[in-house]
Amino acid sequence: MRCALVSSSLDIRGYLGAEFARIADRIEIVDHRRNGSDADIPLAIAWHPPDDAFERYPNLKAVCSLGAGVDNIVACPSLRPDVEVVRIVDPLQAQMMSGFVVWHVIWHQRRFKTYLDQQRDGIWQRLRQRSAQDVPVGILGYGEIGQKVAADLTSFGFPVMVWSRTAKPTPPSIKGFQGRSGLDAMLGETEVLVNLLPLTHETQGILNRDLFGRMRRGGYLVQVGRGEHLVDHDLLAALDNGQLDGAALDVFAAEPLAPEHPFWRHPKIVVTPHDASEVRVQAVATTLVATADAIRTGRRPPHAIDRERGY
Ligand code: NDP
Ligand code: OXD
Repeated sequence: MRCALVSSSLDIRGYLGAEFARIADRIEIVDHRRNGSDADIPLAIAWHPPDDAFERYPNLKAVCSLGAGVDNIVACPSLRPDVEVVRIVDPLQAQMMSGFVVWHVIWHQRRFKTYLDQQRDGIWQRLRQRSAQDVPVGILGYGEIGQKVAADLTSFGFPVMVWSRTAKPTPPSIKGFQGRSGLDAMLGETEVLVNLLPLTHETQGILNRDLFGRMRRGGYLVQVGRGEHLVDHDLLAALDNGQLDGAALDVFAAEPLAPEHPFWRHPKIVVTPHDASEVRVQAVATTLVATADAIRTGRRPPHAIDRERGY
């Protein structure tokens, strides 16, 4: 089966490398060309496709994302509504993300930023210790990644609350919330807020002044969802007026983050370059093979998203 590589920002062939070709050896990879038509291509891998990219493939059945998120594919105007969009579900990616989030939660709990400042000034001063039990964490999104993060934070002793669109079973140690009133109830108890939502019409701009104002004062934000979830100037205001004590930002509305953006130099912000966790090439290759098999046998591919919901 032929599969097109479609991206306006990434050399997908170089990124996937030889390991990918070994696992997906029954798939013929072709580079996307701008003009003409490729009627015999039913499958594509995409990451930030150009707006007109999919016009070229009249018989496309499925597009695989290169990551857990699919927002950049779903938003492509030339993608027909009947084409399946498949995301990557990779337990090792969830594990990497969990390490990233736990690190930031402990960074905030143990006040390591203050210790770094003290070290710079040669100050030997112990700070009052806070136990994990005193630092409640709220997680937006209780999906493949949110569930792993929640379980790991619980094992470190943090009280964990999770917010999802539909009700989800949780172990007794994790409190689940849904809906607008559930979100408000969770925020009222939250000191560290972790954003692990997909970007959809419903979640865009959710990290805003109203939301920060509902959290415990002096809280911390771990923003690893998508840049468009965050209203940038509302975060800067919340940090400057003390409502938030710090923020870890891994994703941005425009990536790479512009050199002049105030986030780079804000003393309460830690910036990372969309690197909180990455899917493994093996996971992309096995997903692609499973998607090709599903197309061949007329089934829905595993991990195909709901196009109506957008995730
Ligand atoms: P999933 O699709 O498995 O989970 C999404 C969760 O969000 C679900 O619990 C879902 O609720 C919930 N949700 C969606 N919409 C709403 C809503 N309107 N209100 C409340 N809850 C909602 O996604 P993953 O866990 O795999 O990944 C989550 C996101 O993390 C990705 O979409 C991506 O944006 C980001 N990500 C970032 C990475 C990085 O390196 N920074 C790496 C990987 C992912 P329900 O359970 O009811 O469906
Ligand atoms: C993402 C990913 O969706 O890296 O951001 O998987």
